[in-house]
Amino acid sequence: MNSIPKQKKQISLSQYIIEEQLKIPHASGEFSALLNHLVYAAKIVAREVRKAGLLHDILGSTSDTNVQGETQMKLDQYADGAFNNSLKICGHLCVLASEEHEEIIQIPNGYAMGKYTMSIDPLDGSSNIDTNVSIGTIFSIHQRLDANSKEPGTEKDLLQRGSKQRCGGYIIYGSSTMLVFTTGKFVTGFTLDPSLGEFLLSHENMVMPETGNIYSTNEGNSSYWSDEVKNYIHHIKSIESGKKPKTARYIGSLVADFHRNLLKGGIFLYPNDTKSSKYPNGKLRLLYEAAPMAFIAEQAGGMAVTVKGERILDLEPKSLHERTTLVIGSKREVEEFLTFIQKK
Ligand code: AHG
Ligand code: MN
Ligand code: MN
Repeated sequence: MNSIPKQKKQISLSQYIIEEQLKIPHASGEFSALLNHLVYAAKIVAREVRKAGLLHDILGSTSDTNVQGETQMKLDQYADGAFNNSLKICGHLCVLASEEHEEIIQIPNGYAMGKYTMSIDPLDGSSNIDTNVSIGTIFSIHQRLDANSKEPGTEKDLLQRGSKQRCGGYIIYGSSTMLVFTTGKFVTGFTLDPSLGEFLLSHENMVMPETGNIYSTNEGNSSYWSDEVKNYIHHIKSIESGKKPKTARYIGSLVADFHRNLLKGGIFLYPNDTKSSKYPNGKLRLLYEAAPMAFIAEQAGGMAVTVKGERILDLEPKSLHERTTLVIGSKREVEEFLTFIQKK
């Protein structure tokens, strides 16, 4: 007789958040509520991404540029609006920073001021939007410097080290939509069930393999790299060391490249240009790209450093849109990269 297939116990993100909150005595629930508002906006963005090819006004570029001189895509602006609208009036933030806004975003008059700050890259991987390739959202949450203040938050509240994050995470709009985040204990992944409209727990305690055979970098920029970076990339591709050469995988969306390496193991590098003035400090932004990814990487057992070997989470941000170099991935792979850096 055929046995009836057992239904896997499914835990929704909302249930998970409540259960986690109950474990913390005297928790106010403010953080849980903030996460719910973020997730609501993520579902709206996911819905639009899913049917982007069918909509008239969502693909392609706008005539606007952001603070970094990059052309804003329509979906960049849409995602920015969706997250801001949901977050700035949710009552749990005191200030926000977004890749798409030069200045800090204040909480509108008349709305409650919360104790958290958020920095966000509403749509990561803009160059992949129009071609149906995975894109994402990256976010970083800190507690404001004076948690009891009811005054509007300031830039200073946002410019805190990555090691002080209360939460770092991303949403990947890929073959499925996933939310991955850490609050500093472990890394958890939820997958959106489109039929329920709910994120369900799918990846508990995510651990990055200690080693990995994938390297991800935009090798088209290699002429601009330092000799140290060139030597390292040459080394991992060569058979001289007796090892199997690594495999190149590069999507061009940090979220997607990182997510793959988190699951499979490997290393991602975005070095600086040493011979052109385009990205003298690297391309990726510290507050809302490198720091949250570094928080996740470390919590999953990986590492994240600059090309000079500084720990990303120790960097003191000086401005909202500051860029950094980023070498992130499996522990052993990043450690091997560090052996290529000249000790000065
Ligand atoms: P964004 O779309 O938010 O501006 O970020 C783009 C970033 C990141 O997602 C990716 O890792 C990197 O730019 C790709 O850059 P190249 O196209 O220079 O390789
Ligand atoms: Mn980005
Ligand atoms: Mn972006």
